[in-house]
Amino acid sequence: MLSLITRHLKETGSTNDDALAWAQNGAPHGAIVRADFQTQGRGRAGRNWESPEGLGLYFSLVLRPQIEISQVPQLTMLAALAAALATESVTQIPCNVKWPNDIILRGGKIGGVLSEARSSGEARSDHTNLVVFAIIGIGINVNFSRADLPPRPILPATSLYIETGRVHSTDEVFNEYGKQFVALYDAWENGGWPQLRAEWLQRDVLQHRRVKAQGEEGVACGVDESGALLLQTSRGAQRIVAGDVETDEEYFA
Ligand code: BTN
Repeated sequence: MLSLITRHLKETGSTNDDALAWAQNGAPHGAIVRADFQTQGRGRAGRNWESPEGLGLYFSLVLRPQIEISQVPQLTMLAALAAALATESVTQIPCNVKWPNDIILRGGKIGGVLSEARSSGEARSDHTNLVVFAIIGIGINVNFSRADLPPRPILPATSLYIETGRVHSTDEVFNEYGKQFVALYDAWENGGWPQLRAEWLQRDVLQHRRVKAQGEEGVACGVDESGALLLQTSRGAQRIVAGDVETDEEYFA
């Protein structure tokens, strides 16, 4: 069973950077850096991640799975699913995920995952390139009010506080996250991609919706083993490997 150990800082630039430095200095599988606030929190696609004290949960995991670099998106999905399950457990409101890394509560984004990985870089004779470590950074909007939240492209941001009307303990969300992550990780180690895919599809807001991504338009029909979004388009099946996804429909479970 995966065991987690946490370094809890008051302030830092970015917990992803701290976790990376620690990983380079031998941090074990399951090490976590958490901070009360970040001055240079990073989001996907070079965006900032607003990280004020008391309003959000900010932490990064160091993982050392025996997988190929192409499978790292599975860890991003697993981390987002754990955040959805933890949020659902704390709020009692159904919580979903949106490819590639969003956590969705009542149609708004309450969190995201930023994954960064290092591989051996040595393509072996069997053409594999194994992960040395992966850094999985998670940000969850816990107590943000509407006025505190920055405007977002595509999806409006929301928080646990906005959706429940209650202030939540960041420690409670973090502890619940740990439990959900360990359970999902252990299930993934035993059941592999089919297990994770099934869990993802149960909470995937894009499934069967008409969407646009990377110049393609089609109906979302899941995610493949390398984390690519699968679209059924008029030109046949297409894989979307990166980018934002838009839809005219609203994401309500
Ligand atoms: C996204 O949705 O764009 C991903 C956001 C990830 C934010 C978290 S907060 C903890 C960790 N440290 C960072 O600098 N970023 C991630």
